[in-house]
Amino acid sequence: MKFAAISITMLSFTRSAAFQTSKAFLRTNVRTVSSTAVRFAEEGQAEVILVGCGAPNRGMGWYHAVQMLEKKCPSASLDFVVEPWFMGDGADSPAGQDFKEFKTEAESKYGTKFAKSLQELPPPAAPRLALISGRTADNPKLLSEAIAHGCKCVYLEKPGAPTVKELEAMSAEAKQAGVEVLMGYNKNVAKYVRKAREFAATVPGSHVTFVTNNAYENTPESLGECFERNSEGMLKNMAIHELALLASFYDVSVDNIAEVIVDKDFSSMQTLKGPSGKSFTDFDKVKFTIKTKNGNEVSVQTDRCGGTDSYAVVTDKSGKEVFRYYMPDDEDKKHVEQLQAKYPTAMPYFFTQDPDYITVKERVAKHTVDGKPAEGIATIEIAVEALKIAEYLVPIFQKELA
Ligand SMILES: NC(=O)c1ccc[n+]([C@@H]2O[C@H](COP(=O)([O-])OP(=O)(O)OC[C@H]3O[C@@H](n4cnc5c(N)ncnc54)[C@H](O)[C@@H]3O)[C@@H](O)[C@H]2O)c1
Repeated sequence: MKFAAISITMLSFTRSAAFQTSKAFLRTNVRTVSSTAVRFAEEGQAEVILVGCGAPNRGMGWYHAVQMLEKKCPSASLDFVVEPWFMGDGADSPAGQDFKEFKTEAESKYGTKFAKSLQELPPPAAPRLALISGRTADNPKLLSEAIAHGCKCVYLEKPGAPTVKELEAMSAEAKQAGVEVLMGYNKNVAKYVRKAREFAATVPGSHVTFVTNNAYENTPESLGECFERNSEGMLKNMAIHELALLASFYDVSVDNIAEVIVDKDFSSMQTLKGPSGKSFTDFDKVKFTIKTKNGNEVSVQTDRCGGTDSYAVVTDKSGKEVFRYYMPDDEDKKHVEQLQAKYPTAMPYFFTQDPDYITVKERVAKHTVDGKPAEGIATIEIAVEALKIAEYLVPIFQKELA
């Protein structure tokens, strides 16, 4: 496995007084990685626990780990990795073997401490941030554990939980514990979203459409596999990023929706058999416009078989396209190529969204340390709203497309 070398950070002795005791504990009890220097949160850095690393080249958590170990996020020190599956029942699988190789390398090169569960970790030695990137169904439990183990802040991968009910309970639990939960909705900080919003603001009466595509083959087998693996459905699994944009920037909430217009010519719902032989009904593409009670209008277009692009289109009052911006743009394409060459077997979306993953992590880590606002980062309240919108839209689309 390719893994770029970084200079090693030695134990820092400049930490604030509040952490001196636990630091001594850590030095003597935890950092037992012999003969290698250890990576350790320094003054101004959050002590990050990555919860749910996943398989190298496939798991979202793994890519977050790579970015932190390569020091792309100056305020984040990846000190601990918690991996329940690949250090447990999944250890002997081929992906488990890949994980083991990554673990050995990260331990020896960076001194990162690995554990099967949060229970095994020492108390915080610096402002503690958990980056939770487990399977969506596991994330509610992992959040409770992160709260119980001294996290000051949590970076929760989208959508956060399978249902509104669960995410609302998580939000309430975190609030009661005084723990802040910020979301990995990276499109909230994406360049193409910002450019489109800025351009639209200069054109009176303009309209923005956010387009997102996947590159599944348009066959019953390929889509059936996709429907089964992402059985929470297209809206919660794929278009949820766009729903978070709508909630963040266009005041879209279930209470504020005035009208939903489904483009029936574009949209399609199918019932297909997954690999297990069970049938799943989902949308393979959908396009819709939402009008809000306070006068906003915005559209979303998603297609499981549309390619690899995300982009935004601005149309003027007459419906003529006046602006389009892609992710990645020409400037970022070079960076994507470099990353592809470095990690040839990794998921392609890691690379197109690479700068945005860095931005979100850095802002959340910095916020964990200094408490200043994490600009543009979606809160768990926005995530609840995005999930509510998804649950509200699904029956409307089902009725329209039946
Ligand atoms: N922001 C984004 O662009 C983006 C992209 C992809 C995924 N995500 C989110 O990140 C989170 C993790 O997604 P992922 O694709 O890395 O998930 P994943 O299933 O690959 O890995 C997540 C965890 O699941 C466990 N796991 C893996 N295989 C398992 C098995 N066979 N049985 C039981 N447990 C197993 C492991 O502990 C692993 O750490 C999700 O919340 C997802 O929605 C976000």
